[in-house]
Amino acid sequence: MIDKIKEISDAVSEKISRITSLNELSDLRVRYLGKNGEITALLKGLKSISAEERPSVGKHINELRQKVDEMLSAYEDRFIALQKEKKMKEEEIDVTLSMPDKNACGSLHPLTLAKNELINAFTGMGFSVLEGVEVEEDYYNFQLLNIPADHPARDMQDTFYITDKILLRTQTSAVQARTMLSQKPPIRVICPGKVYRADDDATHSPMFHQMEGLVVDKNVNICDLKGCLDEFARSFFGADTRTRLRPSYFPFTEPSMEMDVSCFMCHGKGCRLCKGTGWIEVLGAGIVNPVVLENCGIDSKEYSGFAFGIGIERCAMLKYGIPDIRILFENDLRFLRQYK
Ligand code: PHE
Repeated sequence: MIDKIKEISDAVSEKISRITSLNELSDLRVRYLGKNGEITALLKGLKSISAEERPSVGKHINELRQKVDEMLSAYEDRFIALQKEKKMKEEEIDVTLSMPDKNACGSLHPLTLAKNELINAFTGMGFSVLEGVEVEEDYYNFQLLNIPADHPARDMQDTFYITDKILLRTQTSAVQARTMLSQKPPIRVICPGKVYRADDDATHSPMFHQMEGLVVDKNVNICDLKGCLDEFARSFFGADTRTRLRPSYFPFTEPSMEMDVSCFMCHGKGCRLCKGTGWIEVLGAGIVNPVVLENCGIDSKEYSGFAFGIGIERCAMLKYGIPDIRILFENDLRFLRQYK
């Protein structure tokens, strides 16, 4: 009997060490401790043992039963803990892993970047931002701006007409007229937006962006205009940028001028960007023609103003070294990704 007990004890230890599932474990429990189990059978066999031996053998069998029960329970606990640990490992997420490229963030278009910087430069000087309409009336785009129907200045801009009186605006100056009609001085606005002209080559696109500026108040003069534009040039193109004004002609400003900035590639020495001149033209400007003020119901004896129109593509091309305006509208991701 004692040999049998030892045999069972060894067999259980050996079987437990090879277990791979909880099911196998419960099979073992049934096999040894169940109603018809091997250890239960030993207990039943006690009857056939002599009365003197019975207590000692009975004690051994009970010890065996307790030992097997403890081994199985201990193994069960360990097995459950191991399984839990394994599951945790499998479901582990590394939150520090970088995301696959398909989820990469986009970036602002260089034109939007340039527009935002232009807006920042002027809102910093107290300008507010206004947007007009792209499908505009001839009246605001031309007539109010001192460009009557037979004015030769209309030849300067090849216009997309929708009807006789309605067109795609050729200049954000149309917003000047709308603003003066709807607001009383003091006026200090910038108007960024799309404009359209029938033009198409490396430096001209049928659709492009301008940003108009308009100031109307008492005693506004050309010094205010120059101070404002100098401040813009330094803020947008760099602190050491110099500017120069050249006489020009626009029907809605008098006098009219164009502003050049010193070439920021060669700092005025002359290079490919500035075509050897050391200067780059960036905008048209002038003192608001009194005729335009009067057209828009503003007393030109009491008020004066200045206006300017900046080409946003031109500014972006200069600032980011873009050689051809068409690249801005092709949406080639290899180009756009550079502006992240
Ligand atoms: N509207 C002019 C153009 O498109 C630019 C301009 C704006 C000039 C305001 C003077 C004043 O060329």
